[in-house]
Amino acid sequence: MNIFITGTTGFLGGELLIELSRHPKVDKIYCLVRGLSDEHALLRLKQVFELHGDFFNEKKIIPVLGNLSENTLSEKLTSNVLLNDTDVVIHAAANTSFSKVFDKIVEEVNITGLEHLIRWANKLPQLNTFLYVGTASISGKENKNRVIREEESPNNKVHHVVKYTYTKMMGEIMLTNEIAPEKLLIVRPSIIMGDSRDWVPRSYVILWAFATVNLLRLIPAEGKSNLDIISVDYAAKAIIALLFSNRRRHRVYHISSGSKSATNVEKIAAVIAQFFPGLPPVKFVNFALLKQMNLWAKKSLPKGSELYHYDKYLEYWKETFGDISRMRILLAALAPYLEFAQMGQLFDNVKLIEDTGIDLPVPAHIYIKSSGNYIKNIDVFGGAAES
Ligand SMILES: NC(=O)c1ccc[n+]([C@@H]2O[C@H](COP(=O)([O-])OP(=O)(O)OC[C@H]3O[C@@H](n4cnc5c(N)ncnc54)[C@H](OP(=O)(O)O)[C@@H]3O)[C@@H](O)[C@H]2O)c1
Repeated sequence: MNIFITGTTGFLGGELLIELSRHPKVDKIYCLVRGLSDEHALLRLKQVFELHGDFFNEKKIIPVLGNLSENTLSEKLTSNVLLNDTDVVIHAAANTSFSKVFDKIVEEVNITGLEHLIRWANKLPQLNTFLYVGTASISGKENKNRVIREEESPNNKVHHVVKYTYTKMMGEIMLTNEIAPEKLLIVRPSIIMGDSRDWVPRSYVILWAFATVNLLRLIPAEGKSNLDIISVDYAAKAIIALLFSNRRRHRVYHISSGSKSATNVEKIAAVIAQFFPGLPPVKFVNFALLKQMNLWAKKSLPKGSELYHYDKYLEYWKETFGDISRMRILLAALAPYLEFAQMGQLFDNVKLIEDTGIDLPVPAHIYIKSSGNYIKNIDVFGGAAES
């Protein structure tokens, strides 16, 4: 099998690449990588393997310099005759930013970039599978406090917390119209956070949000709402199991905790707090207090506001942040994560388990213990700027 894959310098794509490079049925892996030159692209791929000391097989892994935002990407890939023996395309790249609401880059990468890839892939002489990494979060804001099945999405009537999930939904719609149904495989991970193995996670995405919760301690969110989280190693294992499964009967699969391995913010925050003794207890309060926290950080919270009841936390924030206006940067970046965390969405994973036979994932509040020590390394302000 010859695979063309995008997003391998990212969190999930990096794990997929390493697992695929070890797979006996995989011959070549062409990786679309952004870079300044071919040498730079190769160096970036080698770094993916260096993180955990994995073997980089230069005969198997071939960098393809390119950017999904390039208008000529499709022509560029078509003219690269090396790629003609590709039988599987795995599209794991995306602009995953929650904050770029006014910036066209999210559409450019996630919608136009996908269009370029589809145009090229449809011309491949032996395309067998186009595997798209979508996201279960396309299910929208309306679906609260219940288990959601694959066939309920995409639904272009729902509203989205962030533009990123809208573009991922549009991507699925486009693929369904343009790739032959027998070739299309859509996998929809829920929230991917950390690694269940005891080593430095490839990315601090989502863990950043918990590091921020851990630092703030007074959290304006419903901490007990169900939350569907999986580790990156589980996500990669499940996707590869689906790719090679003989029993695959569906075109779309959730890769998720489902109700049996569900977690919530309160449980995860309690585990992380054990690594940070001596701070005020983590407390969950009404979401409406987020606005008051912002006003307090702006030094314009009206007298008599409810937030003043939490004077112990206000003192703690003054000590922790010094210049309290800095807290607003964290609150702005954390807000969409809190909104997701309170929706109570769980994603049914029966199809995945039945068709691959893999185990259910370990709940996040259990596996996250392995990452506890790394949370200290997270630069919460840097993460807020990148989110
Ligand atoms: N993380 C989650 O919780 C989660 C949950 C559900 C679904 N997903 C989906 O899983 C996939 C991977 O997510 P992730 O968390 O691994 O994301 P990530 O860590 O942000 O990685 C994104 C990858 O996409 C590449 N990329 C971004 N813009 C590009 C462009 N213009 N041209 C070429 N490559 C570009 C990045 O390359 P550079 O290194 O050059 O920036 C990187 O390799 C995405 O499709 C995402 O929607 C993620």
